[in-house]
Amino acid sequence: MNDNLEVIILAAGLGTRMKSATIKVLHRAAGRPIIDYVLDLAADLSANAPVMVIGHQRDKVQEAVGSRARFAVQEQQNGTGHAVLQAAPVLEPDGVEKKRVLILSGDVPLTTPETLRRLLEEHERSGNALTLLTMKLADPAMYGRIVRDAGGAVTRIVEAKDASDDEKRIDEVNAGIYVFDGAHLFDNLRNLSPDNAQKEYYLTDLLAVVRDAGHRVGAVVVDDPVEALGVNSRADLAQVEIEIQRRVVTRLMADGVTFRNPSTVVIDSTVTIGADTVIYPFVTLEGNTRIGQDCVIEPGVHLVDVTIGNDVHIKTGTVADNAIIEDQAAVGPYAHLRPGTKLGRKTKVGNFVETKQAVFGEGAKASHLSYIGDAEVGANVNIGAGTITCNYDGKNKNKTIIEDGAFIGSDSQLVAPVRIGRGAYVGAGSTITKDVPADALALSRTPQRVVEDWAKRKPR
Ligand code: UD1
Ligand code: CA
Repeated sequence: MNDNLEVIILAAGLGTRMKSATIKVLHRAAGRPIIDYVLDLAADLSANAPVMVIGHQRDKVQEAVGSRARFAVQEQQNGTGHAVLQAAPVLEPDGVEKKRVLILSGDVPLTTPETLRRLLEEHERSGNALTLLTMKLADPAMYGRIVRDAGGAVTRIVEAKDASDDEKRIDEVNAGIYVFDGAHLFDNLRNLSPDNAQKEYYLTDLLAVVRDAGHRVGAVVVDDPVEALGVNSRADLAQVEIEIQRRVVTRLMADGVTFRNPSTVVIDSTVTIGADTVIYPFVTLEGNTRIGQDCVIEPGVHLVDVTIGNDVHIKTGTVADNAIIEDQAAVGPYAHLRPGTKLGRKTKVGNFVETKQAVFGEGAKASHLSYIGDAEVGANVNIGAGTITCNYDGKNKNKTIIEDGAFIGSDSQLVAPVRIGRGAYVGAGSTITKDVPADALALSRTPQRVVEDWAKRKPR
């Protein structure tokens, strides 16, 4: 941690190539807006809150970022040099000329803290006034080209749109990440002119300016170009997502999680999973999902904001949203746990069971084909196949309470509001509209009638 370092994050551009109503930095990858990854980097490297330069959709960006940054507004997007200059009123009163300034792009989320530390170390070690991050690309595309002299020293950056044919062939490009000595930043930016193809104030022009003034400039080449991948299109966003997924799974494996086929799972960077849990293929885990140790998550499971204890088995095709599942429970295959579901220890919710606002006590079971909504299910209750809580009367949602140890026969309807007392039995096929006292048996089916030889007499 370094309070001699200020960080500026450029995020005023809309990102037209995204073809989106949403500004580029708020697009999400692996469960978080891409700007969050950049804010993490800033927080990792400096004790000072970064200064974020905002413009397009500034209210939305400010709301999403909150107190994690200070803000400077760039009313018109006149180029990256002009953007950085907007941070001057925030940083100059704090004596920025004696500090280092790290400039990051809000749309470059994959840079690692290790690489940025290497950049900062190289800056100090070489006594540079400016050190930038570069990368080598087979297809340098629209990136700025790094021009070096015969001795290999970096002399200037030329934007693709301004480059000669020879310069366009240069395969070393500007990653858009820089460390400046604060003394060489803002005054030079004030002297920039926009005489280039895009009529913009280029931050990249500062390299030649600083060097021509007799100061040292240098570059660090990043090992893996993915670290400098900028999100300019949906294709870039997908690549960023894939890389974050790869990092998430690699980290989880290092922490003791088994993946049967890691390239098929989708796991948000916000998800935690305990050691010795096994994740089958085609599992999607999103949001604030927390999975404990020794669990098994079978194929096709989709969990959003679900908390799971230890030794829990989630079987094929189960979908759950905002649910809590405690230790040693078994769920699925093909169960649907909707918000407000809480399954206690050793519970079992089987195939084609839907739950909503339903709390199951320890050892309770609903093994087959049921809808349990707005319900309290006591410990060791057994809910037979095909049981339905009729919780909705067309106007209100009503509550079903099933006390400890009760037994609900198959194909019963419990018309709420209704209470089944402790240890009571409901006969199969019953429609229960009144409370059942503890230890009672309730039956509400029409008695069976048998017509002897009916089939023989039936007209053909
Ligand atoms: C820039 C560099 C290029 C480099 C590339 C790396 C310049 C002139 N060129 O090009 O050498 O290879 O990044 O990704 O700097 N922004 C503002 N206000 C502006 C303009 C841009 O805040 O007026 C922000 C954008 O929102 C974005 C960042 O600055 O976060 C980079 O801008 P962008 O237009 O994407 O620059 P590139 O053309 O990619
Ligand atoms: Ca860019």
